[in-house]
Amino acid sequence: MDRLDFAIKLARRVGFYLLQHWGNALNVKEKSSFQDIVSDCDKHAQQMIVSEIEKHFPKEAILAEEDRFETGQRLWIVDPIDGTMNFVHGLPSFAIGIAYSEGGNVLVGVVHDPVLNETFYAVAGEGAYKNGERINVSSNTMLKESIGNVGFYVGFTGHFINAIEKHVRRMRMVGSAVLAASYVACGRFDFFVAKRANPWDVAPVLLIVPEANGCVSDLQGRPAHLSSGEYLFSNGKVHSEVLEIIKKVEKT
Ligand code: IPD
Ligand code: CA
Ligand code: CA
Repeated sequence: MDRLDFAIKLARRVGFYLLQHWGNALNVKEKSSFQDIVSDCDKHAQQMIVSEIEKHFPKEAILAEEDRFETGQRLWIVDPIDGTMNFVHGLPSFAIGIAYSEGGNVLVGVVHDPVLNETFYAVAGEGAYKNGERINVSSNTMLKESIGNVGFYVGFTGHFINAIEKHVRRMRMVGSAVLAASYVACGRFDFFVAKRANPWDVAPVLLIVPEANGCVSDLQGRPAHLSSGEYLFSNGKVHSEVLEIIKKVEKT
C-alpha cells in the first residue's frame, strides 16, 4: 500500500471526526501541568490512526503522543491533534500530523488542517504539496519584510519576541507547530522558531519544509533531526539573521 495515500486518507478521516468535537472536546484534563491539556478526542483520534497502521503495516513501530512510545528502524510518528489548546477553545488552527521514517529519516510527511481543509504533504525527493499543488517557501530575502511565528515556551518566547520585533514586519503565534512550519513551506511565514518540541510536533515538517526548498536547523544552526528538540524552520534566506538573534537571546 502506498504510504502517502494511506496517511492522507487517514488524516482526512480523523479530521472529519475532530470537526464534530471542535470547541466541544470530550473530557478535557490537565496533563503534565495546568498549561498542558489533553482530551478524549486526542486519545480517540490517536486510536483511529494507530489501529489503521497496525492493520496495514503490522511489522512497523509507532511513536504517538498519547502513550505509545515505541522505537524502531521503520517508525510511524503521530500527533493526533497538534494544537489541542486551539481545538479545545474552538480556535481554528490545529492539525493531524502523520510521518513515516526509516533509520531516523522522515520519508513521508502529512499535515492535515480539517478547518481550512488543507493537506500539506511530501515524499522524500519528490517535492512538497498542498492539496495536490506544488508548494515553495517565500522568496523574501529581507528580515524587515518577514513575518515569523514562534511557539509558546515559558522563559523564551517573550524574550525572543522582544529581541526580534524591531527587525521584522510582524510576529505570530499560531499554536500548532506542524501548521506553523507548513506555513513556512507554502510561503505564508518566512520563519518559525520552536523550542522544546517532541518528535511528533515536527516529524512531518522536517521533510515538508526542505522539500519545499526551505531550511531547517537546530537553534545553533546544526542539522536538525527528530530529537533535536528545538528548531528554526525558514525560507533559507533569512535563516542566519534569525539564528543570530536567537543566539543573543539565549546568552541573556
Ligand atoms: C503543541 C503545539 C504548540 C507548541 C507546543 C506543542 P500539542 O502540541 O504544537 O504549538 O507550542 O510546544 O506541545 O500539545 O497541541 O500536541
Ligand atoms: Ca504537538
Ligand atoms: Ca497533540
